[in-house]
Amino acid sequence: MARFRFPLRRAASAVVAAVAPLALVSPALLLLPALASADAPPAPSEAARAEAREVYAAVCVSCHGPAGRGDGLAAAGLPVRPVSFADPAWQKATSDAQIDKAIVDGGAAVGKSPLMPPNPSLRDKPQVLAALRDLIRSFAKEAPAAR
Ligand code: HEC
Repeated sequence: MARFRFPLRRAASAVVAAVAPLALVSPALLLLPALASADAPPAPSEAARAEAREVYAAVCVSCHGPAGRGDGLAAAGLPVRPVSFADPAWQKATSDAQIDKAIVDGGAAVGKSPLMPPNPSLRDKPQVLAALRDLIRSFAKEAPAAR
């Protein structure tokens, strides 16, 4: 009997040796998603989204239009018409960082028309800025206007 016990023990310690590093590594693996999401800002709160809609309605709509088509009342008089945010090519070519920069620092800061005014107050409101960007992105998802 004793002769069989020995290899059994060896097998058991081999299993422990195989599992032990996993036990050490898996908590680190569990941490990875937490580390990755630490960089990403949290999704904008409902309050931030509401404020973004207010800012859009008060400031942006005059040039960019209610659905972001670049057809606001003030746009007609501009030498450079605002882009249509519904244009998939524009959406694809424009990064989130560029949208944020255009909004905060103005069109000239991203090599566009200086008629796109800066909104420096949004620099201290990252949630509202992110919600505004989401709003601009969402204009692409709406059905094309029937005209
Ligand atoms: C006075 C008119 C005017 C107002 C007000 C205005 N914009 Fe613009 N915006 C423009 C024009 C014109 C352009 C296009 C510039 C170009 O293509 O050279 C533009 C471009 C942009 C772009 C695209 C930048 C790019 O890289 O293509 C974004 C994003 C934008 N506006 C967001 C906003 C937001 C958000 C607001 C409100 C906070 C706002 N704009 C207010 C005129 C305006």
